[in-house]
Amino acid sequence: MSNETLSNLSREERRFPPSEDFAANANLKEEAYERAANDLEGFWAEQAERLSWDQKWERVLDWDNRPFAKWFVGGKLNAAYNCVDRHVEAGHGDKVAFHWVGEPVDDTRTITYAEMKDEVCKAANALQELGVSTGDRVAIYMPMIPEAVIAMLACARIGAPHTVVFGGFSADALASRLVDCNAKAVITADGGYRRGAPAALKPAVDEARAKTAAQGHTVEKVLVVRRTGQDLGENGWDDAVDVWWHDAVDKASPEHTCEFFDAEHPLYVMYTSGTTGKPKGILHTTGGYLVGASYTHWAVFDLKPETDVYWCTADIGWVTGHSYIVYGPMANGTTQVLYEGTPDSPERGRWWKIIQDHGVTTFYTAPTAIRSFMKQGREIPDRFDMSSLKLLGSVGEPINPEAYIWYRQVIGGDRVPVVDTWWQTETGSIMISPLPGVTHGKPGSAMTAIPGVSADVVNDEGESVPNGSGGYLVLTQPWPAMLRTIWGDDDRFKDTYWSRFAKQGYYFAGDGAKKDEDGDIWVLGRVDDVMNVAGHRLSTTEIESALVSHPKVAEAAVVGAKDEDTGQAVCAFVILREEAGDGGEDIVAELRQHVRKEIGPIATPRQIMIVAELPKTRSGKIMRRLLRDVAEHREIGDVTTLADSSVMDLISQGLSSGK
Ligand code: WT7
Repeated sequence: MSNETLSNLSREERRFPPSEDFAANANLKEEAYERAANDLEGFWAEQAERLSWDQKWERVLDWDNRPFAKWFVGGKLNAAYNCVDRHVEAGHGDKVAFHWVGEPVDDTRTITYAEMKDEVCKAANALQELGVSTGDRVAIYMPMIPEAVIAMLACARIGAPHTVVFGGFSADALASRLVDCNAKAVITADGGYRRGAPAALKPAVDEARAKTAAQGHTVEKVLVVRRTGQDLGENGWDDAVDVWWHDAVDKASPEHTCEFFDAEHPLYVMYTSGTTGKPKGILHTTGGYLVGASYTHWAVFDLKPETDVYWCTADIGWVTGHSYIVYGPMANGTTQVLYEGTPDSPERGRWWKIIQDHGVTTFYTAPTAIRSFMKQGREIPDRFDMSSLKLLGSVGEPINPEAYIWYRQVIGGDRVPVVDTWWQTETGSIMISPLPGVTHGKPGSAMTAIPGVSADVVNDEGESVPNGSGGYLVLTQPWPAMLRTIWGDDDRFKDTYWSRFAKQGYYFAGDGAKKDEDGDIWVLGRVDDVMNVAGHRLSTTEIESALVSHPKVAEAAVVGAKDEDTGQAVCAFVILREEAGDGGEDIVAELRQHVRKEIGPIATPRQIMIVAELPKTRSGKIMRRLLRDVAEHREIGDVTTLADSSVMDLISQGLSSGK
């Protein structure tokens, strides 16, 4: 975002205070900010009381061995017990946990907390029967069906950290994650419904398993849910490894006595893109994470568990699905909607119909979705009764003021608060957001850190910038749901997040931000080689490596260019190998397909430009800034640090002559 757009943005003068009624009944009031600031550990200890502990902690925070934190030291708990059993024990067994909506119309299931408990216990027994024990890693590669949630909680119940891999990722991406965390088992499905048709998953697991085997890694068991009934293909079943969920789980006992684990027992590993080609396995542990997820879900969404129907549209393959479908909402005993498919299947009003049918009160989605609905026009949502809504949330990328206003007016009937929530896979829970009953929301700003969290914007020296200035977004105090490390790579953990502002001991988020005249925070996007495409994090290097692995490619540079629909889009500049000639007329399609296969459809470049040279500094670093200028059709910036300043002319000429 240029400085000019930025200052236009922060001149935004519209303010949206909550209604008097909302403010009066809000879960968290203004005094919480001060209470938390005065006694951070006391505040978090109070939040931890919302969970059931088998053994209480001795110490709230151990920050002696920075940056390796321990929260609720000595405490013992079980995450699955907290998400299901205790609600049943408290007499809420008949409460609906999920109104599940399959993509095919009328394919629905209603699941109560009591049923959820039985299913989680059966799956936990089945996993143990299959040889999975405490500490083993289990990969989950599934569509958005109830079994995905059950699988996650079954792993949590037996203390086997899960790693959920988004179902849209390729076999290669799955394989590298299986190897990195040395997963013993995979839970998957034959397929799921996407855009009106079954989309296969199991064949990708088979392919990934073959790839890991070639690297000496063994997946011992693959547990398969039958969802679509689609053909598994030739050699699509291996009796020694594959087990049907309906054979193993349905037969298992619904009685399972859970073990209580240390608060720091690993709960899950979630892979996310960093600045190098290798995804980082972000490790979250049990106690602090569950405290962070449940507290923020209660505070930021103003959860009223008796009456709310909450719907988060994220996939469980992302951290949003972990914190705000599974762990936060379920620890709070929430009734939720879970939807399997795409927003426009079978018709464009599908989401709004789901809100109407289920009386959704609280809706959490991403700006990229909002923008695409905006484009389709308000006639579609206007056909539905969405008067049940009382709060709207946004996450994943900055929400531009136009999209915020549209969301508030068209979806929220101009009545309900919008919370723009900033956080990351690493932070585990929401960090910066309006408090819906307190904050007077400003379209485009995530506002300030929530009570219990300390954020700031600092300059290169790590000094807090004055209001009206920009810099780097940092978190200045530890928080319970913080990542504990990168799986198997403590050095990369220290280096990536804690070395930039080591002197101050701040967590460096990798985002640029600005404080406006009121001190409210505007998140501007990544300052590193990470792109944000439709709210999904992708690394430029990862896509470059995928391109370079194609036999016709010599060199590649990838940038994220501004895109009206997806925020940013992947733009690639590729130099072909000499022996490839001009690559053939389908070269661009061929390369796009190659990236899809290597990483997954979300990484497919919007644009691939075949060029003769790439702009590099004298030390050989690709100057992506200049390529971004080309991709965004801007005048090309300062080229004085280029080793060969004529390169940019060459690129521009090549492009305008259509090469
Ligand atoms: C990056 C984290 C947290 C779940 C979704 C993505 C960007 C996220 C916002 C927001 C501006 C945002 C940041 C951040 N981001 N939410 N409300 N406003 N930017 O998780 O894949 O770990 O990505 O998403 O750039 O660093 P993630």
